[in-house]
Amino acid sequence: MNPPFENRQALHAFHDFEPADKDDFRTDVLAGLGRAQKQLPCKYFYDEAGSKLFDQICQLPEYYPTRTELKLLADKAAEIGDLIPEDAVFIEFGSGSSVKIRIVLDALHNPAAYVPVDISREHLEQSARTLAADYPQVAVMPVCADFTERFELPAGTPAGPLNGPRVGFFPGSTIGNFDPAAALDFLTWKADLLGPGGGLLIGVDLKKDASILNAAYNDGAGVTAAFNLNLLRRINDELGGDFDLEAFAHHAFYNAAAGRIEMHLVSNKLQAVHVDGKRFSFEKGETIHTENSYKYSIAEFHNLAAQAGFQAVHTWTDADDLFSLHYLVVG
Ligand code: AVJ
Repeated sequence: MNPPFENRQALHAFHDFEPADKDDFRTDVLAGLGRAQKQLPCKYFYDEAGSKLFDQICQLPEYYPTRTELKLLADKAAEIGDLIPEDAVFIEFGSGSSVKIRIVLDALHNPAAYVPVDISREHLEQSARTLAADYPQVAVMPVCADFTERFELPAGTPAGPLNGPRVGFFPGSTIGNFDPAAALDFLTWKADLLGPGGGLLIGVDLKKDASILNAAYNDGAGVTAAFNLNLLRRINDELGGDFDLEAFAHHAFYNAAAGRIEMHLVSNKLQAVHVDGKRFSFEKGETIHTENSYKYSIAEFHNLAAQAGFQAVHTWTDADDLFSLHYLVVG
């Protein structure tokens, strides 16, 4: 176990909460496959292969969220930088893309620290080290944690305490993975963590024509299908499962009543699968629900944010109203 503060080369500190080990994966998979509607938590998509597939999704012509959000961040960087208080402690929840954070760090006025929070230790260390080298004036203080669960921020770095106003960064519409009650809970504890004077810069995918949404999750090149099926490959590799990847198909659709994209894996036939010595039977056409991706109107999201204790200061959207970026403050 790592001590709470272990200096690692260029990094000011590395705070490790030791999240999600193999036993959690096993427990969650066995519980999820045992349910009437079989389901698997979407956070398990992101092993090494899954993260690479996700990076490919972000480049797809049909998948508009990433490029639209990036363009919004770049186009509005000066406005964003002026809204965020000076000397901010900037905390990124899920530090996947270092492209986005660089745009923001370049726009911030004198940030006190950058705290990337990520569940993947190796990825976090590597990207934090690169950023620390490129932004020597910013204290880079990675926190290895499952950001969907509550955690406390370290009080400071060996260089001193962290006193600036806390501003969170939650891009990519990852908030869409939570159902509305969980999204409210998540935002509420973010408001607690950020505290009075704090802010949150958050990217949220917008409700829109179902054909655009359906295309974004059913790309012609089949990358999203491979991303979805990778979860079964991961279960086979890590938990000794015997899923036949040929016997399951990717299925994604917009559920308008629920306001969400649903991703499923559909069993092509009557079959049984074994994981960790347990047997799970599938009817032909039975599905494993692997992801929800909720979409919001601007009014719906502002309402959710208000319930969580945030006030919307500014909202930016692209010319086609595909994606929204919000700056919220606590209180
Ligand atoms: C990373 C959760 C925002 O919901 O659009 C992309 C994940 N799944 N294609 C999304 C995802 C299938 C993505 N989020």
